[in-house]
Amino acid sequence: MKVAVVGATGLVGGVMLEVLEELNFKVDELVPVASQRSVGKKINFRNKEYTVSSMEQAIEQNCDLALFSAGGGTSIQYAPKFAERGTVVIDNSSAWRMDPSKKLIVPEVNATELGTSDKIIANPNCSTIQMVLALAPLHKKYGIKRLVISTYQSFTGTGVSAVNQYESEKNGEPMPEDQRAYHYPIFENCIPHCDVFLENDYTKEEMKLVHETRKILGDDSIRITATAVRVPVHGGHSESVNVELKSPFEMDDVLKELMDQEGVTLLNDPAQNIYPMPLLAKNKNDVFVGRIRKDESLENALNLWIVSDNLRKGAATNAVQIAQYLKQKGILPNA
Ligand code: A2P
Repeated sequence: MKVAVVGATGLVGGVMLEVLEELNFKVDELVPVASQRSVGKKINFRNKEYTVSSMEQAIEQNCDLALFSAGGGTSIQYAPKFAERGTVVIDNSSAWRMDPSKKLIVPEVNATELGTSDKIIANPNCSTIQMVLALAPLHKKYGIKRLVISTYQSFTGTGVSAVNQYESEKNGEPMPEDQRAYHYPIFENCIPHCDVFLENDYTKEEMKLVHETRKILGDDSIRITATAVRVPVHGGHSESVNVELKSPFEMDDVLKELMDQEGVTLLNDPAQNIYPMPLLAKNKNDVFVGRIRKDESLENALNLWIVSDNLRKGAATNAVQIAQYLKQKGILPNA
C-alpha cells in the first residue's frame, strides 16, 4: 500500500498522518507531497523519516491512494493525473464535490455509493460532514423539511496562515495586512465571512452547507439556509442547527436515533452542565451532539448543537475512513 499525502506540510495533511497512524491504516510506503518550496523537507511518520516530494515525482510513484489537502486549484490540476495512473484520490478540497460524476462521501452515511470506478472521491466540507452525520438518522426516520444553520467555525479551518494570524494577534504583534488570512483581526473577534461572497450575498461556505447536504442525503427538496462565522477558537467547529421534520417525533426516539448513529456521541445532560464544546472535541474523531430540545415555536421541529474537531472528522478522519471502507470492500488492496 503506497500512500501519497498531498499537502503533508499543511494543517490537515499533518492530521492525516496522525490519523493514518492512530487508525492503524497499513502504509508500506508514504509519499509526502507539498509545494515546490517544501520539496526536500523531512517528515516523520511512524518513527521513520520521509522526504517531501514534488507533485510530478509523486505521480510517477503510481501510488494506490492519494489523500489530497492542498487547495482546490491543486486538486483540479493534479487529481486527474494521479487517477489516470490508477491511484484512488480522496480530495479534501471543494474542487470536485458538486461534480455530478464524483461521489461526496461521509462513510457512515453513504459509503455504499462507492465502487471500483470511483477514482476521484470528494471529502465534504468540514461543517457539512459533522452536521450531516447527526442529521442522517433523523432524515431517514422522519424526513427533513428545512434546516436553519449558524456555524461557529475554528480559524484552523483556514489553514496554517490563519493560525499564524491568530497567534501573532494574540501575542500583540499583528502581521502586515498582506500576510493575513483574514481581512480583519480574528483574535477577540467573530467574522461572519467564511470563504468568498457570492452573487446572492451568501458566502461560498454557506452555500456549501446547502448543496453538499442535499447531495449527501440524496434529497434536493430539503430547504436550507445558513450563516457561517469564523471564531477565535481552536479545537473544532460548533453549529446551532434548527431542524424542521416532515413528521411528528418523540424526543426519546430522537435521542435513541442519535445514540445509535455510528460516529456520534451524545453529550446532552443540561442538569449536569453537559454539552459539546470545541475544548472537549479537540483531537477526537467523533461528532458530539447536545442541547437537544424541541423548538417550541414550530411544529415538528427541534434544535441541536453539533461540535466536532474540524481537522479530524471534518477533514482528515473522514478521508481516512473513506479509504478504510475502500479496503474493506477490496477496492483498495487489503493485504
Ligand atoms: P507548502 O507547505 O509547501 O506550502 P494549509 O491549508 O494548512 O495552509 O496547507 C496547505 C498544504 O498544501 C501545504 O502542505 C502546502 O505546501 C500544500 N500546497 C499548496 N500549494 C501546493 C501545490 N501547488 N502543490 C503541492 N502542494 C501544495
